[in-house]
Amino acid sequence: MRLKVTFLLLLLVVPLAFAKLRVGFYGPTCPNAESIVQAAVRRRFNLDKSITAALLRMHFHDCFVRGCDASILIDSTRKKPSEKDAGPNLTQPETPYSSREDHFISSQRDDEMGLVSNPDEVNLPIPTLSVSQAFQSFRAKNLTMDDMVTLLGAHTVGVAHCSFFLDRIIRSDPTMDPNLRKKLNDICGAANGSNPDPTAFLDQGTPLTVDNEFFKQIGSRRGVMQIDQALANDPLSRGIVSGFTANTSLFRTRFAEAMVKMGEIQVLEGAAGEIRRNCRVFNPTRRGRARGF
Ligand code: HEM
Ligand SMILES: *[C@@H]1O[C@H](CO)[C@@H](O)[C@H](O)[C@H]1NC(C)=O
Ligand SMILES: *[C@@H]1O[C@H](CO)[C@@H](O)[C@H](O)[C@H]1NC(C)=O
Ligand SMILES: *[C@@H]1O[C@H](CO)[C@@H](O)[C@H](O)[C@H]1NC(C)=O
Ligand SMILES: *[C@@H]1O[C@H](CO)[C@@H](O)[C@H](O)[C@H]1NC(C)=O
Repeated sequence: MRLKVTFLLLLLVVPLAFAKLRVGFYGPTCPNAESIVQAAVRRRFNLDKSITAALLRMHFHDCFVRGCDASILIDSTRKKPSEKDAGPNLTQPETPYSSREDHFISSQRDDEMGLVSNPDEVNLPIPTLSVSQAFQSFRAKNLTMDDMVTLLGAHTVGVAHCSFFLDRIIRSDPTMDPNLRKKLNDICGAANGSNPDPTAFLDQGTPLTVDNEFFKQIGSRRGVMQIDQALANDPLSRGIVSGFTANTSLFRTRFAEAMVKMGEIQVLEGAAGEIRRNCRVFNPTRRGRARGF
C-alpha cells in the first residue's frame, strides 16, 4: 500500500529531462527505490518461487519488442489490443502476481516507458530455431553469441508447456536422452480436459535455482526445448556452454552482465517516452494521444 502511494508521488515529480539509465535515478523523488523493490520481490519469492522465472522472462519479452519500455505491461483495451494479446508464438503466461504493486516492481527500472504496445510487433524467437537462426534476433539487438548463450541460461529456472517441445518427443529426437524422453512423454501424456497442456521444468536438476546446472543438463542431452539442446551441440555455442559448465561463478558473473546489457536495449530517454501514472495504461495526455495511441 505504502509503495503505491510513493509510486504515484514519484511519477508526478520526476522531471523527464533527468532521464538516464542508472541506479539511483529515482533518488531525489523515491529514495531507496531499489531496496524497496528488492524487499517486495523477496517477500513475493518467499510465497512463490516462480517469480524468478516470471520476472526474467517478462524482462526478455519486454526488451525484445521495441526495447525495454515496459510496453509489455500495457493492458489491452476494447479499441486497441496490446502486446498482452500477442499470438501463440511465445505466450507470456498469466503471471501468478497481478497486483499494481508487482507491476511497479517489474517496470520501475525503466527511465521512461513506451508509448506503443502493439501485438503485431511481438515476433520473438521460437524454440525450434537453430542456434544461428536464434542469433539473428539477438544480433539485431546488438547482443553477441556469448550474450545469447548466457541469457538462455535463464532457462535454469521455470517451465515450458508441452506444446513447445512435444515435437521432439513425437519424432524421438536423437539428441534427447531417452530417459528424459520417457519422463516428458509421461508428463505430456497425462494431458486431459482440465489440464490440456502440462508443463515440465526446463532445468531437470535444480529448477528453482539460478546456477549452471542447466548447462550441465544440456551437456548430458537433457535439454527440454530444441533451442536449449542445440546450444550444447552447435559448434557456434558449445564452447561457451562448456565454459559455464566448468565454472558456475563465471556463469553468474556473465549472467548479471548480460541481463544489464539486455536491459539497455532501446531504452527511451528524455522526452521520447513518458513515466506512467499507472503502469498498465498510457498516460491520458501528451504525445501518446496525439500519435493515436
Ligand atoms: C532464443 C531465445 C529464446 C527462446 C526461443 C525462448 C523460448 C521459451 C519458451 C518457448 C518458453 C516456455 C514458455 C511456456 O511454456 O509458457 C520459455 C520459458 C522461459 N524463458 Fe525463454 N526463450 C528464449 C530466451 C530467453 C531469455 C533471453 C530469457 C531471460 C533472460 C528467457 C527466460 C525464460 C524463463 C525464465 C522461462 C520460464 C518461464 C516460467 O516458468 O514462467 N528466455 N522460453
Ligand atoms: C509468429 O511468428 C511468425 C514467424 O516467425 C510470424 O509470421 C507471425 O506474425 C508471428 N505471430 C505473432 C502473433 O507474433
Ligand atoms: C546497434 O548498434 C548500432 C550502431 O551503434 C545502432 O545504430 C543501433 O541502433 C543499435 N541497435 C539497437 C537495437 O540498439
Ligand atoms: C488432469 O491431469 C492432471 C495432471 O496433468 C491431474 O492432476 C488431474 O487429476 C487430471 N484430471 C482429470 C479429471 O483426470
Ligand atoms: C571462474 O570464473 C571466475 C569469474 O567469475 C574467475 O575469476 C575464476 O578464475 C574462474 N575459475 C576457474 C577455475 O577458471
